[in-house]
Amino acid sequence: MLRCIECGREYPEDEVRYRCDCGGLLEVVIDLDKVENVFDGKNITLWKYKSFIPVEKRVSLNEGGTPLYRLENLQKELEMRELYVKNEGANPTGSFKDRGMTVGVSKALELGMDKVICASTGNTSASLAAYSAKAGIRSYVLVPSGKIALGKLAQAIVYGAKVVPIRGNFDDALRVVVEASRELGVYMLNSINPFRLEGQKTIAFEVFDQLGFVPNNVILPVGNAGNISAIWKGFKELYEAGFIDKLPRMIGIQAEGASPLAKAWKERREFKPEEKPETVATAIRIGNPANWKKAWKAVEESGGSLESVSDEEILKAQKLLASKEGIFVEPASASSLAGLIKLKELSLIEPDESYVLITTGHGLKDPNIIIENFKLPEPIEPSLEAFKEVL
Ligand code: F0G
Repeated sequence: MLRCIECGREYPEDEVRYRCDCGGLLEVVIDLDKVENVFDGKNITLWKYKSFIPVEKRVSLNEGGTPLYRLENLQKELEMRELYVKNEGANPTGSFKDRGMTVGVSKALELGMDKVICASTGNTSASLAAYSAKAGIRSYVLVPSGKIALGKLAQAIVYGAKVVPIRGNFDDALRVVVEASRELGVYMLNSINPFRLEGQKTIAFEVFDQLGFVPNNVILPVGNAGNISAIWKGFKELYEAGFIDKLPRMIGIQAEGASPLAKAWKERREFKPEEKPETVATAIRIGNPANWKKAWKAVEESGGSLESVSDEEILKAQKLLASKEGIFVEPASASSLAGLIKLKELSLIEPDESYVLITTGHGLKDPNIIIENFKLPEPIEPSLEAFKEVL
């Protein structure tokens, strides 16, 4: 069953529907009497948690089961007790979007849809393209022209999506996609589609399964605000099913130039979209997060917070995570570490608690950002002499 988060109206799961008639966001209601307690720390993959996932079909590329690292070096440097990274870049197309797409594209097949569409800053389009290739259906992706990382664009192209660049940003693209899905009968797989979040909530299941306990805090980047909502839903389901007895705080990080939620939160005022979002972290270059109401609830209910970080802080954190821990993530993903560092400096978080940072996408998706900011030395003659000179 689907339920509106605003007015509570319910709809069956077998109709194509993205919003309530009142305009509110929908969420899938899971029968928690039927879920299985499989949290034994073993054989972790997304589909291990199938009793929580509301589809029967399974279009899969073996998503999930991503590594959870203890940041031994960084926790010492930052004088914190317990820091972890859940590295979602290790998914089949290199981002957490695969969790949403294995469920979303499976749902498309169950509904008998043979065309799917999304707006994207890059990762969603790469993932949708891959899963629809696997399913043998057509995919259309609308991306902001010139503002999508090279690797992501290459992925969408090679997996065979119809890639349409638009003159505008993600928010403009999403508006067109919503209209197109309505008029053209194409199934929309942006994160307003509640089935996407049903896949992404498994990040919460894996964190608990891998750690064996619930961390005090989960920190992650926020763009269209689907993932923070999904992970919170996952933890709440574990709690309501009686598998855990406490919940983490959800801490969402936005890039300063695209931070409508963090601004509203910090200034304690109504949410207002940002007209011209801008940041080096193109994945989260979003001014009007479609899921903002779900995200706001997640932060409020969990006792968490929303913060923003500058592009400079993001790039510094990206370098730090790679050079101290061997984990290369794209800029948007590094905002979770940048946020942790900023909150620590502002004494807004407790160094003795446990923190899981979600790094959402692989660093190789956006190599330009590294290369453009680094000057290689001149080439040397192929001799030991010349090499010694450089040393
Ligand atoms: N990190 C990365 C690497 C992303 O690609 C995204 C979103 C986010 C974080 C934010 O997640 O939107 O659920 O709050 N990327 C979308 C896309 C918008 O089109 O790939 P969110």
